[in-house]
Amino acid sequence: MSDLAERAAKLDAGDPLAGRRDLFDLDDGVIYLDGNSLGALPRHVPARVADVLTRQWGRLCIRSWTEGGWWDAPERIGDRIAPLIGAAPGHVVVGDSTSVNVFRAVVSAVRMNPGRSEILVDATTFPTDGYIAESAARLTGCSIRPVNPQHVPDTLDSHTSVVLLNHVDYRSGRLHDMGVLTAAAHDAGARVIWDLSHSAGALPVDISLHNVDFAVGCTYKYLNGGPGAPAYFAIRPDLLPLLDQPLGGWCSHRDPFAMDAEYVAAEGIAKARAGTPEIVSLLTLDAALDVWDGVDLHQLRAKSLQLTEFFVECVQELAPAATSVTPQGDERGSQVSLSCVDASDVMAQLISRGVVGDHRPPDLLRFGFTPLYTRFVDALRAAEILGEIIA
Ligand SMILES: Cc1ncc(COP(=O)(O)O)c(C=O)c1O
Repeated sequence: MSDLAERAAKLDAGDPLAGRRDLFDLDDGVIYLDGNSLGALPRHVPARVADVLTRQWGRLCIRSWTEGGWWDAPERIGDRIAPLIGAAPGHVVVGDSTSVNVFRAVVSAVRMNPGRSEILVDATTFPTDGYIAESAARLTGCSIRPVNPQHVPDTLDSHTSVVLLNHVDYRSGRLHDMGVLTAAAHDAGARVIWDLSHSAGALPVDISLHNVDFAVGCTYKYLNGGPGAPAYFAIRPDLLPLLDQPLGGWCSHRDPFAMDAEYVAAEGIAKARAGTPEIVSLLTLDAALDVWDGVDLHQLRAKSLQLTEFFVECVQELAPAATSVTPQGDERGSQVSLSCVDASDVMAQLISRGVVGDHRPPDLLRFGFTPLYTRFVDALRAAEILGEIIA
């Protein structure tokens, strides 16, 4: 056995999260390293979804809205996500896509900061956040300024209304300093919105500790909520009474069934809802969240850092032509991005040999490490196959 193989076996044997892998329905012939795009299916979810369809819909039908807890699902499931992002209970709601929630958060934040006219947007952002912020800026009469997250403190001024940032860069895997950047924005009188799509479920996130104003994120990556799973919107408790969101609909009305012509917003986090919730997707997510029961997020982070470090080491030894563009240690999320020649072709070959990551143009291979189900032996085997392909 090679030194790397021995170490992988030892690390797996000592992994306190190893047992969690059995909760997932994984194909033994595949090394799945794309949980940062679409998380794997937890085994118990199909039966729970079957119950939603056949009993809750099929038998109870409309009664499920009240007797089956459908109506409150967005807030109830929000409360299950709250501990994963450090939000206060009653201040997270689930529904709509991340794009829609970015819009909701940006316009709401601008409305809380009258007289300020500039929105700073992470220049390295996942594109949808930039597109939506640009549209929100046009609607609110603001201007947009793209800025690299590390330059935010030097760019803030008395015109800055809102700063929209990604906690982990989707391309490089860089983890930004939520505490430092949020404090800088607050010192300048600006509001901050964090997109947690690549950090929630990958590492401990604490938006309360850092006094974050708004947070949004998707649930189909590290939270394993399934394709198209609804996103979440979180708000700092003292800002909730001030929230004037742009998509208030009948489900965020104080008395939805009064069918009143006049809009009066609900008082709690329900005021961040809009229309009829996506019940089947919501309840799929609800079931998937069971895999987090009893998980220590600090243990999760420790494993994620060990896994990604080990993978980089294996790549350096076995596939040295691919170089990591992901920062080391605390500045890394739970992914490794490698730059290499013919990246698109290399990823296609990796996938055909059972190593599933993804490619981001022009030259990046992205590998997501999901500490609940990725093993050290997977990291090693992926690097070995990569080395064979590149050679
Ligand atoms: C940082 C980030 N924001 C948003 C999204 C997607 O938004 P939506 O759920 O609206 O498709 C992604 C998808 O990969 C993402 O990485």
